[in-house]
Amino acid sequence: MDITNIAADIDSQFLAKCDIPLEDNKVGAFCMLIFGGTGDLSCRKLLPTLYHLYQEEKLISDFSIIGLGRRKMSHEEYRKYIRQALVYFASESFNNKSYEQFAERLLYIPFNSEVNEKGKSLCSCISKLITHKQHKNLLYYLAVSPKTAKSVIEKLGQYNMCKGDYNAKIIMEKPFGTDRESAIELNRFLLKYFDEYQIYRIDHYLGKDTVQNIIFFRFGNNIFEPLWNRRYIDHIQITVAEDLGIGHRGAFYEQAGVIRDIVQNHIMQLIALVAMEPPVGFEADFIRDEKVKVFNSIRTMHKESAAEFSVCWQYGAGNIGGVPVCGYRQEEHVSPDSNTPTFLAAKFYIDNWRWAGAPFYIRTGKRLSRRVTEIYVQFKQPPLRLFGRSCDSLSPNALVFSIQPCEEIGLQLSIKYPGIGSLPQTIRMNFNYEKTFNFKAHLAYERLIIDAIRSDLTLFARQDGVEAMWAVAEPIIAGWQERSLAQDYPNYAAGSWGPEAAFKLIEKDGRSWRGYD
Ligand code: BG6
Repeated sequence: MDITNIAADIDSQFLAKCDIPLEDNKVGAFCMLIFGGTGDLSCRKLLPTLYHLYQEEKLISDFSIIGLGRRKMSHEEYRKYIRQALVYFASESFNNKSYEQFAERLLYIPFNSEVNEKGKSLCSCISKLITHKQHKNLLYYLAVSPKTAKSVIEKLGQYNMCKGDYNAKIIMEKPFGTDRESAIELNRFLLKYFDEYQIYRIDHYLGKDTVQNIIFFRFGNNIFEPLWNRRYIDHIQITVAEDLGIGHRGAFYEQAGVIRDIVQNHIMQLIALVAMEPPVGFEADFIRDEKVKVFNSIRTMHKESAAEFSVCWQYGAGNIGGVPVCGYRQEEHVSPDSNTPTFLAAKFYIDNWRWAGAPFYIRTGKRLSRRVTEIYVQFKQPPLRLFGRSCDSLSPNALVFSIQPCEEIGLQLSIKYPGIGSLPQTIRMNFNYEKTFNFKAHLAYERLIIDAIRSDLTLFARQDGVEAMWAVAEPIIAGWQERSLAQDYPNYAAGSWGPEAAFKLIEKDGRSWRGYD
């Protein structure tokens, strides 16, 4: 074989893997069945997202959305119900005319997964409602509790609506299981009815542009990659702080707590994007392979040592933005002596060649001083103190990915302060999404729903990844469950930046959390 042909062949194989198809924004016909179609997630996120995609006409045009729920409602009543939800949750973009058109594609089927509806199977009901083309791209969105999810799946199986003719996709909300064991069991159950390529385990953080941008930023620019390791990076901080409490979700949160709700999924995904190796190509499995390697390299804590590497607490009453707010134990559907944690700070090590010894500090909590999600990458100081004493006040270089509420990337640098003195000064070079592209952040669900319709699994978790994330989270949950019996909850005030112990966790390493106020 001619050597030039071999080279061309190698080149093209590589390019084939790296090839990102040019964006054709319009998606084909589909039908989405939303189980839990009258619930909180549907009203707050799913229907506003679908409505917005419809308003951006280029995106969806040939579709049906079928809400399913226990309540008895006609199509017309459901349209009115969703209208109210959109007026409230999509108030900026809502308008009557586009809603009337959107609502023509909105349908409702009363459905109780626990009851056998004799004679009238769901499958014959939907096939009457949707077109042949939509029938070919059927998505089941399970916006229901894990228990109901199982009985819905069983019903879909009974009606033969999973494989074969239907070849549907199923979108599962996080958390996937309540621990590693239950995630394995849930998956085993799912695989009775669906194949892995039909399962979309959603984590809405992966739909945020700024989160996806971490991969583009890291692997689209050559200048940072040589520095992206333990030799040049001192440590990384990930903050997911919320000023909100738990709203009406007390019943869910009592079972979940902060680790299952945020750490096992959103924070693990952020760690993976920062820490992963370059994937072989821009394809779902190449990217997911690299993420799983990161999860598997995170040093697992033992439940006995959880308190050494983490701080897990609960908020009491306090004040946010001048407004008094109640403590967690006083929230709706929360037990007055609940031991559910609402805050976690932790230190992780990733035991691989790139990161050995460079800690990843994370903190997340409800009812903190303000809402901010950010990744802060702090570089090591220069090797020599050239600027005499003033060098003591030299801030380290840092790269900051602000995910919300601002969508920015900032680089912290030292320069000379103008004038005749010789003073170094810290400045920040900033890129801001909204200012640069004149573009307001859209709902993270938009991207994920479009990807699911197009059968692109890149931004969805794979089962081995889910299990590996649980393996990291589980000992922390277990460690604090045992300790929390002796804990004196609540132990941080709403409106603060968390408990003193969280500051000590990082300060004992000679570092400090990035401040926001
Ligand atoms: C959800 C959690 O997954 O993420 C909520 O269940 C949390 O408790 C929410 O409030 C935070 O999402 P975002 O996009 O507002 O940071």
